Amino acid sequence: MSGAEASDALFDVRGLRRVYGRGVRRVVALDEVSLQVGRGQRLGIVGESGSGKSTLIRLMAGLDTPTAGEVRFDGRVVTGVPERELGFLRSRVQIVFQDPRASLNPRMNVGDIIAEPLRARSVRRELGGVDARARVAELLDAVGLPADAPARYPHEFSGGQRQRIAIARALAPGPDVLIADEAVSALDVSVRAQVLNLLMDLVAELDLTLVFVSHDLAVVRHVCTDAVVLQAGRLVEAGPAASVFAAPQHPYTRALVGAIPRFGGRALESGQ
Ligand SMILES: Nc1ncnc2c1ncn2[C@@H]1O[C@H](COP(=O)(O)OP(=O)(O)O)[C@@H](O)[C@H]1O
Ligand SMILES: [Mg+2]
Repeated sequence: MSGAEASDALFDVRGLRRVYGRGVRRVVALDEVSLQVGRGQRLGIVGESGSGKSTLIRLMAGLDTPTAGEVRFDGRVVTGVPERELGFLRSRVQIVFQDPRASLNPRMNVGDIIAEPLRARSVRRELGGVDARARVAELLDAVGLPADAPARYPHEFSGGQRQRIAIARALAPGPDVLIADEAVSALDVSVRAQVLNLLMDLVAELDLTLVFVSHDLAVVRHVCTDAVVLQAGRLVEAGPAASVFAAPQHPYTRALVGAIPRFGGRALESGQ
């Protein structure tokens, strides 16, 4: 590692390896994965189910520790740093997961769910004396949820609305980076494009850097500036999204691209 390339990348991921379990249960989920995410980039992480996408973003977000390798965020080491010292990451990097039923506490009302990230000390420091209630109202408006949502509970909302709640919560601390892990994959086709369009509008409006994990290449082609391809824990391809999809170099990428329905982008582009 020369260090000379200490660029202005927000994320700098080097030689990540994650092995789960041991003995016959041993799984090498990620192996020798290196990548950078620049400010304002919209990076798609694609690959089949089980290829290591979620493992990778969990490591990037400091939610898990790699077996080997290192993650840096904005020049600061994330790997091996105790949670109490990860404030710089927690306020600036937020994740929206696939299943809002699992990620939203069913016993908390929507107002408390969205305000929860505002309670972190690092976030309060960043945002100053923020009025939580006003911030929640502002966020609900931004994601297109009704003003009476704060007093209601997640089960009272549809799947698409629950994902809007998760997006509002992720935006609450004013992050620079949004990581979306299959954030629209579980939604009905009819609402998927709406939530995706909302997400992309917010990314543009708030000037967010996006890490967009999806097994759906048509969607990644539609929303991302860059893409990396994971196959069985290894990064087999990386580059501008346009070239990855137009001229894939690796046979695995070629197979994935070949499987995109010919008019796969049509439903999205017509805004259904
Ligand atoms: N907590 C875990 N314990 C054991 N194996 C795991 C765990 N999490 C993921 N794996 C395994 O690691 C591999 C990569 O999983 P994952 O990162 O979830 O892939 P993806 O998100 O691309 O579907 C899979 O083989 C999966 O079964
Ligand atoms: Mg996953």
